[in-house]
Amino acid sequence: MKTLSAAVNTLDKKSHINREIYGHFSEHLGRCIYDGIFVGENSAIPNTNGVRNDIIQAFKDIRLPVLRWPGGCFADEYHWRDGIGEKSTRKKMVNTHWGGVTEDNSFGTNEFFNMCEEIGCEPYLCGNVGSGTVEELADWIEYITFDGVSPMADLRRKNGREKPWKLKYLGIGNENWGCGGNMRPEYYADLYRRFQTYCRNFSGNELYKIAGGPNVDDYHWTDVLMSIVNDNHAKAISLHYYTIPSGDFWHKGSATVFSDEEYYKTIAQALRVDRLIEKHAAVMKKYSDNMKLAVDEWGCWFDVEEGTNPGFLFQQNTMRDAIVAAVSLNIFNQRSDIVCMANIAQVVNVLQCIIMTEGDKLLKTPTYHVFDMFKTHQDAELLYSYTQNTETNGIPAVSQSASMDKDGKITMTFANASLGEDFEIDCAIVGAAPRTAEARILTGDVRSFNDFASPEKLAPVGHKAEITDKGVKFTLPKCSVVSIVLS
Ligand code: AHR
Repeated sequence: MKTLSAAVNTLDKKSHINREIYGHFSEHLGRCIYDGIFVGENSAIPNTNGVRNDIIQAFKDIRLPVLRWPGGCFADEYHWRDGIGEKSTRKKMVNTHWGGVTEDNSFGTNEFFNMCEEIGCEPYLCGNVGSGTVEELADWIEYITFDGVSPMADLRRKNGREKPWKLKYLGIGNENWGCGGNMRPEYYADLYRRFQTYCRNFSGNELYKIAGGPNVDDYHWTDVLMSIVNDNHAKAISLHYYTIPSGDFWHKGSATVFSDEEYYKTIAQALRVDRLIEKHAAVMKKYSDNMKLAVDEWGCWFDVEEGTNPGFLFQQNTMRDAIVAAVSLNIFNQRSDIVCMANIAQVVNVLQCIIMTEGDKLLKTPTYHVFDMFKTHQDAELLYSYTQNTETNGIPAVSQSASMDKDGKITMTFANASLGEDFEIDCAIVGAAPRTAEARILTGDVRSFNDFASPEKLAPVGHKAEITDKGVKFTLPKCSVVSIVLS
């Protein structure tokens, strides 16, 4: 087995890893909300105000920090007033983007904000710019956050909620270059300025406004947007980037049946986000030193599973997804000077989900376990780290990041993307002499996945990590993710 040297310098703190980098995204799409998160108050499945208790617990266990809602493409067709008040009288609508199914609006603003309180996460609202009005969005903010007497605050009280909720993250539109209105950047940027003007900070609530940023490598969009929207209008712009093995949206490939070559292409595509962040950041820096990037949609996008509704975007989740999640999160950590938030798409039953449900059953995907193994990076300080790397099939085999929390605990996370080679990692820790190492490993055949017959086929187990004179030593087997907490 080849030994690779590595180093972590605890004296070289780079940037703060916002816990929101470990964020998620819930959209009214397929079985994400209905028959997923939300089963309704009268369901036999144990629930709190209609939200599954086992899901709430699973979210709490990974310290899910922020949840984006209600879309996605759905957001620019969503009219919030349809989703409040007495459920039997709520207006129905057609979910035109996602399968043309009827949306009964039984999960709306109150349900979402109450759920976030239950989970203990920040809500991240995406406002409707594509087909909505300034007044509609302004009223929504007032409904959610105003404490005094006003038409919207009174309406909220009438609907059973006396005190306002807290709302920090507000996205103004989604993919307005595409499903959110097919706009040109000049037009959207002006519209953004107008919409954001009327999104007020009520009753001590402070909005962190996020403008709709580019798709993948559309640097022109970033350039125009940044030339019009400045630090007074927004704190961040979004970036959407999905990992598609071929890089071609119309030829995605199966989630479970793929060649080794396709696998390596997938990892190469996932690694691309590093360069995208760097290049968008360079454009942004021309205009602002403060503006951040919210990668508020990312993850693997494959063909839907056979026999499922093509509009529901349901795909399986293998060890390949776990490697993609690990390398992506390591990159977001490494870029935490500019990346303020990231939201994998989507949290339950859609795309690279962390949870799948079937009736009263729930399973955690390999991607869920990666979020669990990485959770101690949340709100820690990124440390300089290095691994002597080795190439496999045109990509670096090993990805890593390291951080130190406020109590001095060091988290290191590694992924070995190679399907053929195990490594031993001999890691020096500079500036600290840890005495204990708690390591976990997630590994398995790259095509294996959890299903309802074998829900725990892929799950992390304890791993051996030996404290040495200079740091820590451990094996990093092929196709594995390893996390180590040193104290
Ligand atoms: O995640 C599925 C869709 O992908 C989202 O609704 C949209 O924003 C993106 O195009």
